[in-house]
Amino acid sequence: MKVAIAGLGYVGLPLARQFVSGGVHVIGLDVDQSKVDALKAGKTYIKHIPASEIVEMTASGRFEPTTDFSAIDAVDAVLICVPTPLSKHREPDLSYVIATAEEIAHHLSKGTLVTLESTTYPGTTDGELREAIEKCSDLIAGEDFHLAYSPEREDPGNATSVEAIPKLVGGLTEACRDRAVEVYGKAIDSIVPVANCRVAEAAKLTENIFRSVNIAMVNELLIGIYFFKGFYRGAGPAGFEGVQRGTRI
Ligand SMILES: NC(=O)c1ccc[n+]([C@@H]2O[C@H](COP(=O)([O-])OP(=O)(O)OC[C@H]3O[C@@H](n4cnc5c(N)ncnc54)[C@H](O)[C@@H]3O)[C@@H](O)[C@H]2O)c1
Repeated sequence: MKVAIAGLGYVGLPLARQFVSGGVHVIGLDVDQSKVDALKAGKTYIKHIPASEIVEMTASGRFEPTTDFSAIDAVDAVLICVPTPLSKHREPDLSYVIATAEEIAHHLSKGTLVTLESTTYPGTTDGELREAIEKCSDLIAGEDFHLAYSPEREDPGNATSVEAIPKLVGGLTEACRDRAVEVYGKAIDSIVPVANCRVAEAAKLTENIFRSVNIAMVNELLIGIYFFKGFYRGAGPAGFEGVQRGTRI
């Protein structure tokens, strides 16, 4: 099996490593020539991936970093891991996803699977992404190529390795979902198929919001309990004792 991973950043590079160690041939696509050059030279630019692992990946003969999108002509799947930042008006900016979709559409073969990994709102995969690919190719999603969403769940700071984190997969059709489960099964231990792309997109956003709210709450508690002595005294004997012992949250 051969897959292309578009976007070799914090998400795409660890995913490439997973597929390579699963015995899959990976075309690593990025528009940033300096990243491609670094990888070819066996160098790393991501803190938790040592250079030795990049060397191992390239030495396996199964990892080809490139800026040349025509390399996807002969792949079984294209996994999109490009940025989805907020615009200056705090609106989701899909320009990287659309640019990637248009680029890959020119080289997409019938039967290929395309999945989006980037964090985004429900409706992106079967909406904007699908339209961009169909507009720039003569292929129809769900008929000529498979389309799915599978959110990246990389959790910086968490010791659990990527392959052990269960991976959600939602497809445009059942056949799209089944194909995505098959492809991801080469790299990930546990795949969780869900009803469609929108369910997987919503699940990812829910997870991110849950995490953000918890981080914000703990930060507020830190200020309230640790820094403002008046507050912790009001919190009763347990809070007072905790702070006296130097408890940190
Ligand atoms: N970093 C995390 O911990 C994390 C966790 C979960 C989800 N995500 C999501 O994953 C997505 C990617 O995040 P990231 O942290 O890997 O971003 P990143 O900025 O580290 O990497 C993105 C890469 O995509 C490349 N790129 C941009 N346009 C491209 C194009 N048209 N074709 C090919 N490559 C292109 C960039 O050069 C860069 O190397 C985002 O949607 C992010 O929200 C990130």
